[in-house]
Amino acid sequence: MKIAVLPGDGIGTEIVAEAVKVLRALDLGLEMESALVGGAAYEAHGHPLPETTLKLAKEADAVLFGAVGDWKYDKLERSLRPEQAILGLRKNLGLFANFRPAICYEQLVDASSLKPELIAGLDILIIRELTGDIYFGQPRGRRTAVDGHFPGSEEAFDTMRYSRPEIERIAHVAFQAARKRNKRVTSVDKANVLETFQFWKDVVTEVSTQYPDVALDHMYVDNAAMQLVKAPKKFDVVVTGNMFGDILSDEAAMLTGSIGMLPSASLNAANQGLYEPSHGSAPDIAGQGIANPLATILSAAMMLRFSLNQAEQADRIEAAVKTVLSQGLRTADIFSTGTTRVSTREMGDAVVRSLK
Ligand code: IPM
Ligand code: MG
Repeated sequence: MKIAVLPGDGIGTEIVAEAVKVLRALDLGLEMESALVGGAAYEAHGHPLPETTLKLAKEADAVLFGAVGDWKYDKLERSLRPEQAILGLRKNLGLFANFRPAICYEQLVDASSLKPELIAGLDILIIRELTGDIYFGQPRGRRTAVDGHFPGSEEAFDTMRYSRPEIERIAHVAFQAARKRNKRVTSVDKANVLETFQFWKDVVTEVSTQYPDVALDHMYVDNAAMQLVKAPKKFDVVVTGNMFGDILSDEAAMLTGSIGMLPSASLNAANQGLYEPSHGSAPDIAGQGIANPLATILSAAMMLRFSLNQAEQADRIEAAVKTVLSQGLRTADIFSTGTTRVSTREMGDAVVRSLK
């Protein structure tokens, strides 16, 4: 089993190192090869997603990804920005189905800004379509940076679009995931305003007839944003488009106390996948050894379960994470009085110890 390891920028290198350590400790003989991506690749090769990195990712059974981005690249033209690396990987590998679970660990109930009773026991799954929508529609008004100055037209637009097959396949993913859970799907749209999302709603409704055992409801995205903080436990599986999913998944992540805890998986039709923490590269805390590696470690667990057919090993990692939380170990983002503050590396070491 071959894994492409792409740490990227900012805290990416620190957190991925801990996840790699945990994977090694399992002794599965995994073949892991690293490559540069994002700003780091731009610095070294002049492009955020060099051909060699893309090739490595394509040939691997799975990709373990850290994070990309840094404000210092804000003035680069869009095609060279670090974010293009993750978008390029998603598109080139056809990773259309993004799973973003939001689980509240009982040990962290108090780390959330919401009242404990609202989130205790929370376990929802956001399924975000990842290769369509306004992210990949035709843009206009792309400008070229010249000395940090952006000449060009005084208007810009991006195109929101979805095709029937794109909606159908993500709807199937959502209904099938719901079958393994509480058999409820909420499809989030903006059908009251946008043609794209009226179509989305119609197609999801059609697909739902093939899953009579799963309850489907529809919700406008603004209402969904509100319900997520009002009564998050009412949701089970949420399926939505790329843009709304980007926003709602950050919101859902924060319900659990820390975005530093949440893994994600992006899969294609062949179950080849890219696994990354839901959070970003956090350049403000990079290099300080204080980032939380648990989201990446849990992403490695998802990788074992979804792409490498090693569900038991995934369970082992998840149990080890719960153990270290029960031991009271906390990185800065989830620290509260009465717990023990540890560094990124100490957290990774603790997970390895509890595996053994
Ligand atoms: C995410 C990120 C990315 C996105 C960025 C880095 C391109 O916010 O994975 O949610 O918008 O999809
Ligand atoms: Mg995002």
